[in-house]
Amino acid sequence: MLAADGLVKRFHSRTGPITAVDHISIAVAAGEVLAFLGPNGAGKTTTIKMVAGLIRPDQGRVVVDGVDVTGRPALAASRLGAVLEGSRNLYWRLTCLENLIYWGTLRRLTPAVARQRAGELLRMVDLEDRQHNSVQTLSRGMQQKLALCQALMHRPQLVLLDEPTLGLDFASAEAIKATVRQLGTEGVAILLTTHQMDVAQQLADRLAIIRAGQLVLTGRTEEVLTRYSRPVWRVTAGEAFSAGQLAAARTLGWPLEQPTPKDLLVTPPEDDPAAIYRLLDVLRPAAIRLVERHQADLAEVFQQVVSGGGEAL
Ligand SMILES: Nc1ncnc2c1ncn2[C@@H]1O[C@H](COP(=O)(O)OP(=O)(O)OP(=O)(O)O)[C@@H](O)[C@H]1O
Ligand SMILES: [Mg+2]
Repeated sequence: MLAADGLVKRFHSRTGPITAVDHISIAVAAGEVLAFLGPNGAGKTTTIKMVAGLIRPDQGRVVVDGVDVTGRPALAASRLGAVLEGSRNLYWRLTCLENLIYWGTLRRLTPAVARQRAGELLRMVDLEDRQHNSVQTLSRGMQQKLALCQALMHRPQLVLLDEPTLGLDFASAEAIKATVRQLGTEGVAILLTTHQMDVAQQLADRLAIIRAGQLVLTGRTEEVLTRYSRPVWRVTAGEAFSAGQLAAARTLGWPLEQPTPKDLLVTPPEDDPAAIYRLLDVLRPAAIRLVERHQADLAEVFQQVVSGGGEAL
């Protein structure tokens, strides 16, 4: 649905030219959520604006649903829906419903279809009871949800979301996440940026992490998490391990730490499927509460990747 190839964007700042986006290529298939992650200033918004046709790349091209839209903003706009950082194309004096209907008719829906679609979307994000309130009376989070509805009015097949859950309360963030999942099942391609790694981990089929304008890691979310998980086991007991139990565990000769009196972190040999049984055996009769293998979360992966060695999958 989206293929962006070799995008480059340079800006001229007071300290000289900077390359905000340095040969970035990303693709998003129909029904797929790609989380596009990176620290502040990495080039995410600049990339999204190029994809949306709002700024022109210095190099590279963007193809949406088979159509080359680079430098053709009107065509790009009709093919995609976008909620961009900070900017909302909402009319303050119009009501929620009026905004959506107006926008829908701009996108060539008939007023009746626009009205129906608007009602459906307002229900989806739980703004139905505000439909007749003007935008200026909405809270920031409500405006954010309305901006998402607006982006979805014409049923775009590609949706660009730049930090869609920023500053939203729990219920609103859940509503937006549910909407993103729903769009995925409808075959919509979604490009999402966020600094909330839990949101990215919950929603993304694939990840692309950028740093200083360059891709440093791409891959399927599960593969990346597995790859960054370490072969460390945590064994937690109901009470502190005794000196005898600790000594017995050490006789196995495996790397071992005791971060708290009740917790052991052990790294058994990976090629020994019975290792964990042997460990539990020597810890007998400790009241074991939990045995779990370390599973990396996206926050850990992100931190490792942006602070140093990322490698493309
Ligand atoms: N219009 C502009 N003129 C000059 N420099 C710009 C302009 N827009 C962006 N930049 C610079 O390009 C770089 C990338 O900015 P961008 O907004 O794409 O980052 P980002 O990844 O979206 O960051 P954040 O997480 O803070 O939103 C930054 O160094 C920024 O200062
Ligand atoms: Mg940004």
